[in-house]
Amino acid sequence: MKDLVGNRRRLELGRKLRLLGLTIKENGVIYSALLGLYYAGSSVSNAAFEHMQNLRKRRGLPGLNSRSLNAEIWDNWDWAAGGDEWTPSQEWKDSLVANILKPRVAEGSTVVEIGPGAGRWTEHLIPLATTYTGIDLSKTCIELCAAKFATHKNATFRTNQGNDLPGVSDGSVDIIWSFDVFVHINLADIATYLDEFRRVLKPGGRAIIHHGTTAGHSGGWRSDATTAELNALINAMGLEVAEQFSNWEDGSTRHEVGLYQDQITVIARP
Ligand SMILES: C[S@@+](CC[C@H](N)C(=O)[O-])C[C@H]1O[C@@H](n2cnc3c(N)ncnc32)[C@H](O)[C@@H]1O
Repeated sequence: MKDLVGNRRRLELGRKLRLLGLTIKENGVIYSALLGLYYAGSSVSNAAFEHMQNLRKRRGLPGLNSRSLNAEIWDNWDWAAGGDEWTPSQEWKDSLVANILKPRVAEGSTVVEIGPGAGRWTEHLIPLATTYTGIDLSKTCIELCAAKFATHKNATFRTNQGNDLPGVSDGSVDIIWSFDVFVHINLADIATYLDEFRRVLKPGGRAIIHHGTTAGHSGGWRSDATTAELNALINAMGLEVAEQFSNWEDGSTRHEVGLYQDQITVIARP
């Protein structure tokens, strides 16, 4: 529907009136009045969104992505759907596990997952890992995962401050996995996490991170990070961008990483 609103803006007045006449003739006055309301409301909400993003950049506001807001939101999230409310289709999820996760997480790895939530990816990571550590700033998520994966003796879960990897030893980790988490973390906290990546990853170790790319301008309550800013931070930390992609091919199907021009970046510690 947003496309329709945007596309109508380019029409000259005469054509707009003709479209309006036809709409009223075919749908009646009440439907057409509601449509008018929808058009007006959409324009106002789009303008408000752009204004919010600009204000955020100009004044350095955290938006909804501060550590305290993230903790508040996720501690009180209804986790009944187990995170699958963000899974567009079972085919997409299976393909992500088969084509992105499994080829990059070798069996026998020491794995750290940041922001496991209700364990949507955890169940695929634990069987590959010799040692798995799930770290989340939400106590609710940690308690949920600890109960759900209690029988897996190679797995431990703990809370953090939202930008650190407590209890993870220097140079001990092969793989860091984080999906649908860094999309909600602002650049200042990403920088602190990258410093932690450099500390905990073994030489040759990798971090597979799903993140936003447009500083929130594509919607989806994204963080203030752009790809260019993220890459600059990675390089400044002495880490390297090994891979960066927004979609992948699986047979004849092309899957998108996320809804809001998101990407996955694989960060390597040289
Ligand atoms: C959208 S959920 C995704 C959960 C899970 N990764 C999934 O894909 O189903 C976001 C998760 O990230 C966690 N989170 C948000 N900000 C965080 C931060 N700064 N550090 C660690 N975890 C964070 C939340 O508590 C929540 O578990």
